[in-house]
Amino acid sequence: MSEREDSNSESNAMWGGRFAEGPSAIMREINASIPFDKALWHQDIRASKAHVAMLAAQGIVTQADADAISAGLDQVAGEYEANGVPENWDLEDIHMTTESRLAELIGAPAGRLHTARSRNDQVATDFKLWVREACVAVDAALGALQVVLVTRAQEHAASIMPGFTHLQTAQPVTLGHHLMAYYEMIGRDRSRFVDAHRRASQCPLGSAALAGTGFAIDRDVTAKALGFAMPTRNSLDAVSDRDFALDYLMAATQCALHLSRLAEELIIWASQPFGFVVLPDSLSTGSSIMPQKKNPDAAELVRGHSGRIAGCLTSLMMTMKGLPLAYSKDMQDDKPPVFEAASLLTLSLAAMTGMIDGATFQTERMRNAAELGFATATDLADWLVRQADIPFREAHHITGAAVKLAESRGLALDALPLADLQVIDARIDQRVFAVLSVDASVASRASYGGTAPEQVMARIAEARRDLGLE
Ligand code: ARG
Repeated sequence: MSEREDSNSESNAMWGGRFAEGPSAIMREINASIPFDKALWHQDIRASKAHVAMLAAQGIVTQADADAISAGLDQVAGEYEANGVPENWDLEDIHMTTESRLAELIGAPAGRLHTARSRNDQVATDFKLWVREACVAVDAALGALQVVLVTRAQEHAASIMPGFTHLQTAQPVTLGHHLMAYYEMIGRDRSRFVDAHRRASQCPLGSAALAGTGFAIDRDVTAKALGFAMPTRNSLDAVSDRDFALDYLMAATQCALHLSRLAEELIIWASQPFGFVVLPDSLSTGSSIMPQKKNPDAAELVRGHSGRIAGCLTSLMMTMKGLPLAYSKDMQDDKPPVFEAASLLTLSLAAMTGMIDGATFQTERMRNAAELGFATATDLADWLVRQADIPFREAHHITGAAVKLAESRGLALDALPLADLQVIDARIDQRVFAVLSVDASVASRASYGGTAPEQVMARIAEARRDLGLE
């Protein structure tokens, strides 16, 4: 007989009035959320203090009881701070753990704290407060990554590298331009977290179990005390809504996808055939068998973590799908995926910020690669259109012949003798060489948002202003 099959002969202290015997060990184990929801203890104490202050102001509990409860909650918080939150499965969750400790400390008045409230509105409030704080924290971390991206982009606003499509050399671009592409992605991520925070600005507290309460509470007061803009408007929705957690996970997933793409580029760039970047030793590892190896493990883990973060989103979506109103116990499973995604994202952001900050970009190799891949073929075709008024489709064809010739001779396009180019098309003249270099190509792409260094510098200047760096 395992210990689990024992049942608890004492009925539960919180609801035991209606039960003949206590929960079995299995029930206690499957029911317990304290192992993870103890992470909500700060929010739980804050929300309880706001609640009891409002109860006193409304004359629902005496000021003396409210003061005793508030001081007791501070004492519990001090204990948690010093020793951590105790994990007793019989107390199920952070809400009952705190209330039970409060009762030990202050006695009878503790029983008045739960007036006009249920764990359903309590957990929704605590969790929403936690997610709101997480949105603010990740926004700050994303801002720090943007600062590093802009700084490195400015250093390399004119460093030429091959731009790729299909991972085939396409047209030359600048490294600064490439890094600023990620600045834009991270900017969209920030706006999603800001938006998630704004949308989570209604306070569920006071919705009670599902239907509201008969006590004359003041929900505006508690909402304001906890930093929300207003109370939620429908008690059924308030206790069963986890959109705020899904909003956070959706933003986190999209952000993780961006980090994963950047990680993948660093991994490719750090490989020997590319050799575009040397990652900092502090964020790389060696091999136990191959002494020459320096592996981009941090980047690989950022790429890998994105899958786990997307899994967290899927997990909560599957938990919520098909749940009838209002609260169902399935919803207790809402917290682990959010906590996991938040810690994976925080770590991924720190690793990525460190990698970009400490990367040594091999600009010679990047430039050589841009020169090797016939990256200026489009410039030749464009020149034929502009200077010889040839339709672009025909110009494309003529350029294709020039690339074929250069390839067969093992030469770059701008190293082909003019006489050979003129055999392909007599309308080509000496002026063409002005557009065939990678520098000329990059400088010519000065359309708004293009890769010309002057354009890149203009976008960097705006970014620096937006980040408050100027
Ligand atoms: N531990 C619960 C959770 O995290 C608290 C809410 C419990 N409510 C209830 N009716 N059993 O969801």
